[in-house]
Amino acid sequence: MNVVVQQPTLAVTKLTPNMGVEITGIDLNKPLDSATRQRLIDALHEHIFIVVRDQHFTPDQFIAAGRLFGKLQEQDQPEIYGLPGYPEIRQVSNMHKDKSGNIAKYSPEWHTDHTHYTIPPKYTALYPVTLPTDTIGGGTSFCNTRLGYARLPDDLKQKITPMKTVNVLAGSAARNAKSTSVEGMQAGNKNTAIQPLVRTHPDHGSKAVYFHPKKTENVIGMTPEDTQDMLDDLMVRMVQPDTTYTHQWRMGDFLMWDNRSSLHKAGNNYDKSQLRLFYRIIVEGEKPM
Ligand SMILES: [Fe+2]
Repeated sequence: MNVVVQQPTLAVTKLTPNMGVEITGIDLNKPLDSATRQRLIDALHEHIFIVVRDQHFTPDQFIAAGRLFGKLQEQDQPEIYGLPGYPEIRQVSNMHKDKSGNIAKYSPEWHTDHTHYTIPPKYTALYPVTLPTDTIGGGTSFCNTRLGYARLPDDLKQKITPMKTVNVLAGSAARNAKSTSVEGMQAGNKNTAIQPLVRTHPDHGSKAVYFHPKKTENVIGMTPEDTQDMLDDLMVRMVQPDTTYTHQWRMGDFLMWDNRSSLHKAGNNYDKSQLRLFYRIIVEGEKPM
């Protein structure tokens, strides 16, 4: 039987008025009572992302911490980006390069994860293994697309709410970028997932704009070109100073975000000669509705 450890020092502090909380005074390596676990999940749903400070994980412990939030999904391309022996962990780093010598799987543009999966992950979590010594750069940015949706004019809400996106590994905008890594990715365009452009959060009940610009081939009934023009406009409406936040990493951060209500992107502004390495896990979601 698990010994449940009370962790009365747990504190939840807002990072910005519109998203993100810092959680201190808790050790995710110790068994949690169900009320504390639910408090973490509720904070994640309400505040889009949580940063649990001062955690110390082996790969097994990181996986166990992730399982507090649900069932983990195995990562794709484990032969390149995986951590041997740990199919649930992907290594996100600047050490992997594409054929052009650029950082592979870099994700410097706003997106939500894996919309080309029929059932995309509901949460993603990162844990830093090695960070550049420049602590100012290399942050990860988040955008609250629930707030972005709420602020849209009513006629635009009505127009986009019934729309469905066709999602592939490398969609029309990615093809237009014509990078070497994208050409390789197009070979993986066999699978198509249809997703709602406006998604209702199954636990929180709120609606959010939901798309990955570079995995969207088109909106059903629209050309790829018209689709990308509309998504460009929606992106500008989503990404505003008070709907976004850049997290500056500290060693020991366990950061988990809710893909159903947010966009994220990797930071670019740091010394690339220094290693930047995270472990990433993803938590199984549900069919977006
Ligand atoms: Fe991502």
